This record gives sequence, C-alpha cells and structure tokens, in this order.
Amino acid sequence: MNPRDAKRAQEKLLERYGGDVGKGTQQRILSSLESLEPHLQEAAALYKSIMQFDALVAPMTDADRNRLIPPVQSQMVENDREKLQIITREHNLSEREIHNLYQRITWDASADAKATQADIVGNTMKPELQERITKACKIAVEATQAELSLGKVLDVGCGHGAIVKSLVDAGLSEPDMYVGIDLSPVMVNNAIERYGFARNGRTGNGRQFVAGDFLAHDFGDTGIFDSVIFCSCLHDLPDMESSISRAASLLRTNGGKLIIVHAQGAQHVLMQHQANPVMVKRGLPTAKEWVVMLDDHNDWGLKMEHEPADSRTDRESKEGYLAVLSKV
Ligand SMILES: C[S@@+](CC[C@H](N)C(=O)[O-])C[C@H]1O[C@@H](n2cnc3c(N)ncnc32)[C@H](O)[C@@H]1O
Repeated sequence: MNPRDAKRAQEKLLERYGGDVGKGTQQRILSSLESLEPHLQEAAALYKSIMQFDALVAPMTDADRNRLIPPVQSQMVENDREKLQIITREHNLSEREIHNLYQRITWDASADAKATQADIVGNTMKPELQERITKACKIAVEATQAELSLGKVLDVGCGHGAIVKSLVDAGLSEPDMYVGIDLSPVMVNNAIERYGFARNGRTGNGRQFVAGDFLAHDFGDTGIFDSVIFCSCLHDLPDMESSISRAASLLRTNGGKLIIVHAQGAQHVLMQHQANPVMVKRGLPTAKEWVVMLDDHNDWGLKMEHEPADSRTDRESKEGYLAVLSKV
C-alpha cells in the first residue's frame, strides 16, 4: 500500500474503533458480551473466573497453594463451578461452546483492525517471522504437488486470510484448491473481501471460506486434503487432542501433511496463556507431549517428521514453533 493510502486506511480504522484500536476492541467485546442472553452472560462470567483461578494455581505445589490461596477464595471458585454446571445442564451448553463464544466475540472485535493493519504492511510479518510462515506454507504446498495428491489445502483458523498470499507464493496457484475455516464471521468477511474473487480459469471456482467451528463443521465428501495447516491457531481451539484428531481424519493417506506453525514460538503462547487463560487454555504441545499423544493415538495414523522446538531453547529462537506430521 502506498503511504497515502496507508494513511487513509489508518484514519478510517481509527474512526471505526472510536479513535483507539485497543480501547475500541475492548469496547466491542464488552458490548457483545452484554448483548448475550442472560444465561450466556452468567455462564461466560463464571467460566472466566474459573479459568483464571485454574491457571493461577496450576503451577503451584500443594504447599504453595495452601500458603497463598485463602480457603474462602477456593470455596468461591468451587461454588462458581457448581453454578456453571447447573447453567450448562439446564441450557444444554458445553464448556467448548462457552470457550468458542469468547473466541468468536474476541476475534470478531479485532478482525477489522487486524485485516487493515495487514493490508497496510502488505500482509507480511517481520522478515524473520515471515520466513517461518513461508517455510510452513512451502511444506503445505509441496504435499499438494506429490504423486496421488488432490491438490488441496485446509487453512484452520484462517483469520482474514493471513497466509493466503504465502500459500500462493509457495505455488498454490489454483484458488479452488484452498479452503479456509474460521470461527469468526467478521474475520471470514474480511478474508472474502481480500481473497474471495480469484477464480480457477478452468473450473470457474474460487477459494472457499467457511465461517464455522473446525471441530463441528461437516466438510462433506470432498473434505479430504493434502495438507491441513494451523497457523498461530491451534492454541485458540478448545481442545488440542480433538483438533489434532479431526485434522488427521481430514488428511489423505500416504503423505498428507499436518503442519502446526507459530512464528513467535511456544514461549510466546505460554505467555498468552498466563495473560489470558480464558482465550488460550494451554501452551502448544511440546516434543515430549507429542511422543505421548502419538503413542496413545495410533488411530490418527500420524508420524512426526519435524519435531517442534521447546520453549526457551536456541532452536526456538531460530525457528519458532513448527511441527510437521505425515499421515501414513
Ligand atoms: C491468532 S488468530 C490466527 C489467524 C491467522 N491464521 C493468522 O495467522 O493470522 C486465531 C484464529 O483462530 C480462529 N479460531 C478459534 N477457534 C476456532 C475454531 N474452533 N474453528 C475455527 N477457527 C477458530 C479465531 O477466530 C482466529 O481468527
């Protein structure tokens, strides 16, 4: 974007967010929460206080917990758990739905800002971070070019289409070979505005952007992919194992690739978890956790090809988080 257009885009964005993107985003989140039905408002508030408490005590030893947490506080959280159970039972709600509610509201609120900011910088990150995304996208696209491939990539938590350009640059030339899914309809609208128009000259079909929950969406008979990529997103889903299991079920056998990339690395995600355990329930799986998960889930048919770097290691500072698994 040239400097004049960038300035205009920035001004328009500030106008839409009431002069301050951070405050405007928080304001949007608050008003969405306030517009929920009363039982959802109550469930969301209880879920938030429980998640924050659980994240606070998780790293503590029993002795520290007894010393630092007043019994009255533990009792209040136990009462909140009971109240939440009653609401979820009465309204047939699951914890996953409450988690997704926070996710959708938060990403809806920030979607316009994120998309415009990406437009301004030409939809690339800092060079060292972009390099990591580029590498992951190359692996995703190579799987579409292998013998017996279908040519198709699924981008989970696609946001405003953040990696579409990187996939195209890596050689995903036909638009209809791309499917992106995101829980936030506002993110998906931004993605469609930016990347929805290109068509395959032969079939006339374009990219498919779906507003929905990856864990619940029915991809239908054609929902098998050469690659499933999670870019900066696995930690946002409510349940890591279910997400990996779902991804494995959507991959073609004989070399389909599951790629999990987070350019800033596992440590960054752990810090997000500490700062906001409601949105980020845990960190990314460590190399050791992958070994255990793959051992417990032969049914996934996944084999580790590139083990991710653990947090605070030299390898992490060089490559961020990249896990590549192959479907056997
Ligand atoms: C940190 S953003 C990453 C967006 C994009 N991949 C990028 O690299 O900029 C995480 C995205 O995951 C989406 N998300 C969270 N839970 C989801 C779910 N259950 N199904 C699909 N998308 C989900 C959010 O709406 C959000 O847009």
